[in-house]
Amino acid sequence: MATGALLDVATDFPVLQREGLVYLDSAATAQKPQVVIDAVRDLWEHHNASVHRGVYPLAVEATDRYEGARRRIAQWLRWPARDTIFTKNATEALNLVAQAWGRANLSAGDVVVLTHLEHHSNIVPWQMVAAERGAQLRYVGVDEDGLLRLDELDELLATGDVKVVATTHVSNVTGTIVPVADVVRRARAAGAITVVDGSQAVPQLPVALDEVDADFYAWTGHKLYGPTGVGVLHGRHELLQEMPPFLGGGHMIASVDFETSRYADTPAKFEAGTSPIAEAAGLGVAVDWVDGLGMDAIRAHELDVTAYALERLGEVDGLTIHGPRDAEQRGALVSWSMDVAHPHDVAEVLGRRGVCIRAGHHCAQVLMRVLGTSATSRASFAVHTTRAEVDALVEGLAEVRRIFA
Ligand SMILES: Cc1ncc(COP(=O)(O)O)c(C=O)c1O
Repeated sequence: MATGALLDVATDFPVLQREGLVYLDSAATAQKPQVVIDAVRDLWEHHNASVHRGVYPLAVEATDRYEGARRRIAQWLRWPARDTIFTKNATEALNLVAQAWGRANLSAGDVVVLTHLEHHSNIVPWQMVAAERGAQLRYVGVDEDGLLRLDELDELLATGDVKVVATTHVSNVTGTIVPVADVVRRARAAGAITVVDGSQAVPQLPVALDEVDADFYAWTGHKLYGPTGVGVLHGRHELLQEMPPFLGGGHMIASVDFETSRYADTPAKFEAGTSPIAEAAGLGVAVDWVDGLGMDAIRAHELDVTAYALERLGEVDGLTIHGPRDAEQRGALVSWSMDVAHPHDVAEVLGRRGVCIRAGHHCAQVLMRVLGTSATSRASFAVHTTRAEVDALVEGLAEVRRIFA
């Protein structure tokens, strides 16, 4: 297999300098490059003040950094900055859509379509609003290769009852890449809005939101080498204008009277309370950093590592790999079941060797039910992952077999 021109950036990450650490859990949270750590620290050390409200220079500097990050992120993903909202994480972004848009627009008999690939954060908020509004949930399944059944989507859309199609862009379990622009086109033609969970896609694939054209697109900063505590929701302007706010409080108002309030325009309307200032600034720098490497180069690197991992894991006896066999059809992660050992035992043995993988249901219990298991093992890759680290994983799995077989 050709290795091509792979990236070599592990030295940018302080934590990866730990002796013997093989970090294969970036789908859970990515490690942070020094520039991101420095940006957060710089904000705290030199520019810390509450944003938007202060007129003194320190507050202006903090506001410039916070709003500059918003503009940078929006420009990078090709979506208007005014319709790019900072949230706490992807979970909060998806709850915002389900609660603010869903409560105002769903009623009895309406259908919300989800997929079997969803993370709980794109299921539970819809269950909550559907129960409140009397709406129904329906699921689109996957085929034997783990690819989304677009024929099932079309069947559901043909009923005329579908108001929302909510789908992940990249599955955090099977790695399946969903053709989201195609899903959006089909849903829009049937009069439904679309909500895309891009948590795994934004760090792994070149994403152009004007091409995806979803009504709402949510993602989370900490998986893009940024800080925890900041996520992003991109929304269609008309919908953001029409829908009520999610949370009420400071900053999201134009004026407040005894009984009622007038709300600020988007994005402030959806950013109640003191903002995640250093976190947003750090995420803006994370975007600079990945953009400097280039998302095409990141995808090429991770594709190489993923293809290599599929090949090497295919050599391990007793392993069932979930999801597409073709690396081109998946993101940078591989989940599997092993005949002789429970995923937690696998992760424990690997962990003792310094190899960090994830074991469990990955917050995707619907998918676990579809796969007929309660847990899988998952190795996920990043811009710093090497083929040698995949070899370390495979050697660790050989030890698991020696212990449990
Ligand atoms: C596909 C997917 N969606 C949503 C989330 C939730 O991200 P957060 O916990 O940062 O909101 C995750 C994180 O594991 C994920 O993998």
